[in-house]
Amino acid sequence: MDDLIQQAVEDLAAAGKVTALTGAGISIESGIPPFRGKGGLWERFDPMEVAHIDALVRDPAKVWNILVKEMKEIVDTAEPNDGHKGLARLEEMGKLETVITQNVDGLHQAAGNTDVIEFHGTFAWQRCMDCSRKYETRDVDISKIPPCCICGGILRPDAVFFGEMIPQDALWRSRQIASDCDLMLVIGTSATVQPAALMPVIAKESGAKVVEINPERTPLTDQISDYLIMGGAGDIMNRIVAALEKL
Ligand code: OAD
Repeated sequence: MDDLIQQAVEDLAAAGKVTALTGAGISIESGIPPFRGKGGLWERFDPMEVAHIDALVRDPAKVWNILVKEMKEIVDTAEPNDGHKGLARLEEMGKLETVITQNVDGLHQAAGNTDVIEFHGTFAWQRCMDCSRKYETRDVDISKIPPCCICGGILRPDAVFFGEMIPQDALWRSRQIASDCDLMLVIGTSATVQPAALMPVIAKESGAKVVEINPERTPLTDQISDYLIMGGAGDIMNRIVAALEKL
């Protein structure tokens, strides 16, 4: 493992353009549950019942009561952890340009990264299902579920539900950045949801190194990634940043 940290430090030092693709695993140490695996949201709920656009349209109150209310409480108070801070530090050091995240929690921006592509939208905002007016989630009154817009329409997270398209500009820019980077850090994602999981494939096919940080293997491991540094995002990022700072 120390060898792989050293390898990552050398690869980061040598790379021109570095980008990161992150998933729910990077936010676990901030108290936000992942989707899959032990303690994951999809262990407790059927995503088709609470996270599919058809479920939201059919019964918004149910989706709010089961998923959105709980997510709002968690996201309202969550703070960036060492994994997020490590990526912000890499940007400060001029070693990271863009973070492509599947997360909707806003923690990369809170940590200080300035170019964050929110591939699955954001939970920091709600939008009216009728007139598209937006409200900051933390200001939304949830004493009545589902909360409503001043026009009377129902509010929904400004995030991508299953069955919905990825925002065009997020998809377009992510593809560009993936095909143009020299190194992609892939942190805390099971790499099972498309088209996000395609970004490391695009990077690899375009000649970039792909470095995974995850306590578990993923479908990218040994196929697309050059190597997997096995461990939690906070610990591994701390060690990488500390070693880079010494160079
Ligand atoms: P998943 O919940 O599928 O995967 C979480 C990953 O984090 C797994 O690979 C874990 O091994 C890893 N992990 C666990 N602890 C970790 C730690 N401390 N540090 C780093 N990694 C750790 O989450 P995503 O891959 O992000 O989509 O899921 C992708 C998409 O599926 C989500 O964006 C969401 C969901 O359905 C939508 O909502 C549209």
